[in-house]
Amino acid sequence: MRLIAHLSDLHFGRTDPQVVQALLTDITRNRPDLIIVSGDLTQRARSHQFTEARQFLDQLPAPSLVVPGNHDLEPLYRPLQRIFRPRAKFAAHLPDHDERPVWQDEAIVAVGLDSTRHLRWKSGKLRSSHLEHVDQVLASTPATACRVAFLHHPPSTAKAGHPFDSLAERGIDLVLAGHVHHAHVALIAAGHHRSCVLVQASTACSTRLREDANGYALIRITMPALTVEVRGWSGAAFHTVHRHGFHKVAGLWHHD
Ligand SMILES: [Fe+2]
Ligand SMILES: [Fe+2]
Repeated sequence: MRLIAHLSDLHFGRTDPQVVQALLTDITRNRPDLIIVSGDLTQRARSHQFTEARQFLDQLPAPSLVVPGNHDLEPLYRPLQRIFRPRAKFAAHLPDHDERPVWQDEAIVAVGLDSTRHLRWKSGKLRSSHLEHVDQVLASTPATACRVAFLHHPPSTAKAGHPFDSLAERGIDLVLAGHVHHAHVALIAAGHHRSCVLVQASTACSTRLREDANGYALIRITMPALTVEVRGWSGAAFHTVHRHGFHKVAGLWHHD
């Protein structure tokens, strides 16, 4: 069994300190093997916000993998930095976090994809180079391992022709995303022969709330099955909001 804690949209610079502390406590209590953060670590990509995000990551009780979100690129009102060095601060403050993060052990492989675009503010994109990278990583993955891709932008923000289905076609089992600050768990079908599970997390600890309270996901993987536990902030502590079970038969994922 592997336990992944999936967090997104921390937005340091706009966080609630009580929620940040409770989040660390709740994650630590659940003892994940791996923590995946799918972008928007900061509110405006300012150095002090990255410093806070870094301090948060340093307190996590397991290795963390991180991809940037649109808020982690230099903002549009700093146009020169935005055009020429959009991810410079992200890289400077998280030097030990790879530009193309990959985790591989005998039970899971997790591939991080940077879906941000420096000439766009909100929309993201999966490029053919992302898919080639996924293919390269999966080529050396045991057939029984759970294959995870994580990126900031979820399929609901995709323009026509976005190859999100391609992740399932390539054998990805689980896609982790954020950006819209709305917790959502669903199956993504790619034709009749492939599907994968989408886990979209709410904002973990920021006050930029939309429909949902603060939250994150705990994903327990025992192939060919996995459960997704959505944890949410009650105002006093994190608690279980939903539990979803899935199992895989002949390349297709199904709800339990
Ligand atoms: Fe966000
Ligand atoms: Fe975002």
